[in-house]
Amino acid sequence: MLTQDQLKLAVAKKALEFVPEDAIIGVGTGSTVNLFIEELAGIKDRIKGAVSSSDASTARLKAHHIPVFDLNEVDKLPVYIDGADEINHHLHMIKGGGAALTREKIVAGVADEFICIADEKKYVTMLGAFPLPIEVIPMARSYVARELVRLGGHPELRQGVTTDNGNVILDVHGLQIMKPVELEETINHIAGVVTCGLFARRRADVLLLGKQDGVAVLR
Ligand code: 5RP
Repeated sequence: MLTQDQLKLAVAKKALEFVPEDAIIGVGTGSTVNLFIEELAGIKDRIKGAVSSSDASTARLKAHHIPVFDLNEVDKLPVYIDGADEINHHLHMIKGGGAALTREKIVAGVADEFICIADEKKYVTMLGAFPLPIEVIPMARSYVARELVRLGGHPELRQGVTTDNGNVILDVHGLQIMKPVELEETINHIAGVVTCGLFARRRADVLLLGKQDGVAVLR
């Protein structure tokens, strides 16, 4: 029986097959991506560098002497490789467990292909068991929380966390997300919301799913 960490390592290794030669690639955030960065270090001479979705990933990339580019210097990213907290069969995701959702959504938006690396515990029929992270401008915290209650959720301020952009995170419990694209749009329209952790309008293109019998490639 493989552990969750072993499954994460298996997908991190598999993701190397999706890294194009001589390109700048988008790199996400989280424990699965940390393993991917370790693997990437082994082939770093085959890529030009990376655009990173968080200060934490930037520090790891730089520690491996992988060049990190500012997104504004780059107009094309063939791939973006990142984890997820939950992913459904349409490859819609909940992300933001590591509080990096806004930069993740920006880098993912630029990329031609989003490659999600996840272990089988994250593959779900319906999104919402994992509390939905929402990045909020601090002065709007209470207002946004009241609006989220009106949508049927139970928002909770993530204690002690300030995002790389200087904002707060509300984790919304109790949502059964039957229409991810619609809910993403509704939440993003609340004044004061910077980004909602639903990645449905820009879903993953490929899921590398770590399972007991190997890594499945789902599209
Ligand atoms: C960070 C994220 C991560 O991709 C997500 O939390 C998964 O992390 P891990 O690989 O540690 O399970 O969205 O904001």
